[in-house]
Amino acid sequence: MKNFPQSEILNSLPKQFFASLVKKAGEYIERGFDVINLGQGNPDQPTPGHIVAKLQEAAANPINHKYSPFQGFPYLKKAVSDFYSREYGVELNPEKEVAILFGGKAGLVEIPQCLLNPGDTVLVPDPGYPDYWSGVALAKAEMVTMPLKEENRFLPDYSELGTEDLEKAKLMFLNYPNNPTGAVADLEFFEETVRLANDHDICIVHDFAYGGIGFDGVKPPSFLQAQGAKDVGIEIYTLSKTYNMAGWRVAFAVGNESVISALELIQDHLYVSLFGAVQEAAAEALTGPQDCVKELNEMYEQRRNCLIDGLCSIGWDVTAPKGSFFAWLKVPTGFSSEEFSNILLEKAQVVAAPGVGFGSYGEGYVRIGLLTSEERLAEAVKRISELEIFKKS
Ligand SMILES: Cc1ncc(COP(=O)(O)O)c(C=O)c1O
Repeated sequence: MKNFPQSEILNSLPKQFFASLVKKAGEYIERGFDVINLGQGNPDQPTPGHIVAKLQEAAANPINHKYSPFQGFPYLKKAVSDFYSREYGVELNPEKEVAILFGGKAGLVEIPQCLLNPGDTVLVPDPGYPDYWSGVALAKAEMVTMPLKEENRFLPDYSELGTEDLEKAKLMFLNYPNNPTGAVADLEFFEETVRLANDHDICIVHDFAYGGIGFDGVKPPSFLQAQGAKDVGIEIYTLSKTYNMAGWRVAFAVGNESVISALELIQDHLYVSLFGAVQEAAAEALTGPQDCVKELNEMYEQRRNCLIDGLCSIGWDVTAPKGSFFAWLKVPTGFSSEEFSNILLEKAQVVAAPGVGFGSYGEGYVRIGLLTSEERLAEAVKRISELEIFKKS
């Protein structure tokens, strides 16, 4: 059999940092250990029943057995604009300001290819969601990182960016509620971002994947709520987290008309739109009963409290996340994030993602997902409390 070499562009994609940890965790499971996997971001709850029922009904409708319109069904775009109006008071033109996506990841990876030429500069958060890097590599663009530091509430400090980088930058990725730090931005920060984008002609892509998950009574704001945001960027919203629909692959981009039309153009070349039954179910999720979202928020908040209170009580000095379903925990002094993740796995059979996998400013932290029951989180805390370092403190 011939072994065909991969293309240069494929070889230029960033390496999967977490693969080795996943492999190691798998080995522990195979050896019969009861591993508590808090390292990944896969929602553990099922999709709400009324959304599943809509899919079942729609799957039987022959209209959905044909190719669907390339850019998605107009009723779904209308449902998206109704959702933004209801949730954020943001008015959108469903025909020109909404693009339907095969999940947020697809849109995030497509965007650099839509707007950049080889050698163009992109501003990305550090730590940040690694898929931004993949899109940048596919577009043969260059990355400049924006450090997210605890003392700045994990928001980038724009005054730290070099003038040359700002002048060269064409695109910026932001993500609040933030993966991995759990930080939530306020409207003031988004307004500052709009000013910066206007001053330097930068297109802002706000990844709002965790928009539906905010704690302590705070509803995370949409970037589009900032005055003038639509002039300078888009927001990408996925149904994966808010409605536990990660396996369904449905998301959308909203905002700047020229960026939306570029996304639709690339998608015309890459795919036909989503299965019509998934589109009907997505419209049901956005415009149907929303109690499920409130209940999900309450569940994550209780899990967060269980984890954070538990860890504080054993002497680990950790801060509670304000949104998303991740906790971003400072590793005890004397360990790198990878060393400490290894200790958690080897000695407590708890999987946590080492922060350095999200960028160099993630060093010194581990990310823990709130994607298992309070009981299992409490068990994880108990095992961690038995580690030598916590016994001494
Ligand atoms: C920050 C962030 N953005 C985007 C996504 C993509 O979600 P999806 O492709 O399921 O819409 C994820 C998923 O984990 C994420 O954590």
